[in-house]
Amino acid sequence: MRTIAIMNQKGGVGKTTTSVNLAAGLARAGRRVCLIDLDPQAHASIHLGVEASGSVDTIYQVFAGARTVEQVRQLVSSNLWVAPADLDLAATEVELVDAPGREYVLRNALQAASADDHFDYVVMDCPPSLSVLTINALSAATEVFIPLQPHFFALQGLSKLFETTALVTRRLNRQLRVSGIVLCLYETGTRLAADVTDDLMRFLDASDPQAPWSQARVFDSRIRRNIKLAEAPSFGQSIFDYDGQSAGAKDYGSLVNEVLAAEAGAAPAEHREAA
Ligand SMILES: Nc1ncnc2c1ncn2[C@@H]1O[C@H](COP(=O)(O)OP(=O)(O)O)[C@@H](O)[C@H]1O
Ligand SMILES: [Mg+2]
Repeated sequence: MRTIAIMNQKGGVGKTTTSVNLAAGLARAGRRVCLIDLDPQAHASIHLGVEASGSVDTIYQVFAGARTVEQVRQLVSSNLWVAPADLDLAATEVELVDAPGREYVLRNALQAASADDHFDYVVMDCPPSLSVLTINALSAATEVFIPLQPHFFALQGLSKLFETTALVTRRLNRQLRVSGIVLCLYETGTRLAADVTDDLMRFLDASDPQAPWSQARVFDSRIRRNIKLAEAPSFGQSIFDYDGQSAGAKDYGSLVNEVLAAEAGAAPAEHREAA
C-alpha cells in the first residue's frame, strides 16, 4: 500500500484538486483507493459529491476514537472511497492536545483496517497548516507530494516544509519520504514559471543526500491553469468525469501515469514511452 500525504501549509496551491484527481485517476486505472479528507473545510469530500450532514460519519469520529476508517469511508465510484471531513474536525486540534500518542491516531486507525479492506493507495488531503491533522498525515504516510504554485516565494515556503518533514521523519516516522513536487496552476510559456522551476530543480539537486527529500523530484507533468478544474468541484465530479477531454484531465492523467510508473517493479516512464 502506498500512503501519500498531499501537503503544503499554504492554501490555494492545488492540494485538494490534486488529491481528488490523483485519487480518481488511480481508481480509474483499477487501483483500490481511499481518499482521506483531513481539512475541516471538507473541500475534497464535496468535490466528490459527499456533503457530510449530521447523519454522516466522518474522519472526525475516527480521531475521536468512536469509529474505524472502514465505518466512515463511503464508496463514491468504482474503486474509489472517501473518508469525509466536516467542520467538527476543527475541534480535533483541541481535543487531542494532551492525548498521549496524538500524532499516531490516523496511522493506528489505518493499521487496524481488516485484511479484506485493503487499499492500493491511501491519499490524504491535508489542511493548509502544520496542525495536528497534518502531523497525523505525515506520521501515517510513506510519501509526501507537495503541490506548488511556481511563483517567486514558492522556494522560501518549500524549505520550511522540508524542515518540517525532516523533523517528523526523525521523531515520528522514519519511513517518510518527500517523493515529488507537483507544479500546479502552471502558466505555460511564462518566464516566471520556467525560472522558478529551474531554481527548484537546482535546489533539489544540491540537497543533502541524507535528507528525507533527497529523492524528491519535480514530476514531469505540469498541471496547467484550466478553468474546468475549478468548475468540476461544484458538480461533485472529478475532472475525468466532468470533462475527460479537458487540459486538466490530460495533465492529471499524465501525473497518474507517473505515479503508477513508480510502483514497485514498474519500469521508469521514459523506458516505457521509448518501447
Ligand atoms: N490547475 C488549476 N486550474 C484552475 N484552477 C485551479 C487549478 N488548481 C486548483 N484550482 C482552483 O484553485 C482553488 C484552490 O485550489 P485547491 O486545490 O482547493 O487548493 P488547496 O487545497 O491547496 O487550498 C480552487 O478553487 C481550485 O478549484
Ligand atoms: Mg484544500
